[in-house]
Amino acid sequence: MDQTIARQIENLVNQVNYHSWRYYVLDDPELPDSEYDRLFRRLQDLERQYPHLILPQSPTQRVGEQPLSAFAQVTHKLPMLSLNNCFNAREFKDFYRRLGNYITEEPIEFCGEPKLDGLAVNIRYEQGRLVQAATRGDGSRGEEVTHNIKTIPSITMQLVGKDYPQVLEVRGEVFMPLDGFTRLNEQQKQAGEKLFANPRNAAAGSLRQLDPKITARRPLDFYCYGIGEVAGEQTPLADNYEQLLHQLQQWGIKICPEWQKLTSVEEALRYYQYLADKRVQLNYDIDGVVFKVNRFAQQQKIGFVARAPRWAIAWKFPAEEAVTTLLDIDVQVGRTGALTPVARLKPVFVGGVTITNATLHNQEEIERKDIRIHDQVVVRRAGDVIPEVVRPVLSARPPEARRFSMPRVCPVCASELLQEPGETIIRCNAGLYCPAQRKQAITHFVSRKAMNIEGLGDKLVTQLEAAGLISRVSDIYDLQLAQLLPLPRMAEKSAKNLLQAIKN
Ligand code: IVH
Repeated sequence: MDQTIARQIENLVNQVNYHSWRYYVLDDPELPDSEYDRLFRRLQDLERQYPHLILPQSPTQRVGEQPLSAFAQVTHKLPMLSLNNCFNAREFKDFYRRLGNYITEEPIEFCGEPKLDGLAVNIRYEQGRLVQAATRGDGSRGEEVTHNIKTIPSITMQLVGKDYPQVLEVRGEVFMPLDGFTRLNEQQKQAGEKLFANPRNAAAGSLRQLDPKITARRPLDFYCYGIGEVAGEQTPLADNYEQLLHQLQQWGIKICPEWQKLTSVEEALRYYQYLADKRVQLNYDIDGVVFKVNRFAQQQKIGFVARAPRWAIAWKFPAEEAVTTLLDIDVQVGRTGALTPVARLKPVFVGGVTITNATLHNQEEIERKDIRIHDQVVVRRAGDVIPEVVRPVLSARPPEARRFSMPRVCPVCASELLQEPGETIIRCNAGLYCPAQRKQAITHFVSRKAMNIEGLGDKLVTQLEAAGLISRVSDIYDLQLAQLLPLPRMAEKSAKNLLQAIKN
């Protein structure tokens, strides 16, 4: 009796593990969810009746019963290394050139992959079964987090197939996908709990739980990018990194799908740009691109310095956040009269560009963030998104910091201001009598989206207005050559072109 039940249980364990691998690792489910659930419940039923037959690799065993009282220390069989960094194409080319000191074959093959912004872990399989998982720690010793790692659905409890080595340690990054992070913080807010600053912190906090039930509720995921100890037959696993990734994938280990094989510096530069552009679309945070020499024989020749391989490099993206001084808050009047407070910043290099201004949206926003003039502020520019002031650095608030309040009258024309009930937007009531609105209206009128008058841009409109030549839209059509010629930097040719463009 027990034997048939045992066989049934083993069968169900294998089936459920297989289908959850299809679902979580391959993103390619074979069964409808309802059928999967049916198998799972059937397994749960049998295990409830015959608890002595529960298998350690059973999917029901992902969440253990007992919270731990402390984390055990784990000494890594092979140290977990770090990566050297570079920050621009010149430094990357230097890295490439240095490889020439160790290997002469050309071209050097690389694999490129995202630098994932999570936590490095080492996961040990013996006889195909997940037996231990540990954080990187200081690289030599980490904390045992087996109970928590087992709750991550995309980490297989049992390697797939038959030809895996007796001992296989895989290494990679545990991270929190961005959609899950947003949801988690919404839940935290509703429960009145502390919000996580970013997905990385949330992932770290989730993995450092003594109670795996808490971790199990956190949306964690995993990508593998290497191995630790390997023992038994089937070694070596592969000749190069590319083959290794394929092999690991066949054993049920999840690999980041963005990796690419690269065969020249030019390809590597293109791949960097590709990921830098793609970054905003990914559902996980990355902070750079990792390049690894593909062939293991070459890796061996190139070797290590201190705690980092010489055959790999992390090309980091420019930092998206920086701290600078909020010099002042100006108020701009837009085309429709809306008043917008704008932060004047001490110039700061962030997200790859120097920024001097950032919109602060409205008074409420400034108060909510408790931003004061002269504060040190964190500014952020992610991708092509417009720069924003994230928060003040409260510990660095100077005594002269002062609160901002919106003006009582239009800062440009001193007219009355209007605020519709229930709206945050404050507007200047003067319409086209307000020089700011008038100028914006003219600029808008001549812009590509409207009349599309070639050669008549923001700067020239300002010039014409300052010279008293236009004060409303229709004045554009009365402009004369003789009026244009005295303007600074206005040659006869360009003046004639402008008049023609207006006519057109
Ligand atoms: S490989 C021998 N690949 O970066 C090289 N690391 O600075 C060992 N990381 O602790 C690491 N994405 O947490 C590697 N695709 C990637 C990575 C990656 C993120 C992290 C990892 C490691 C740190 C090294």
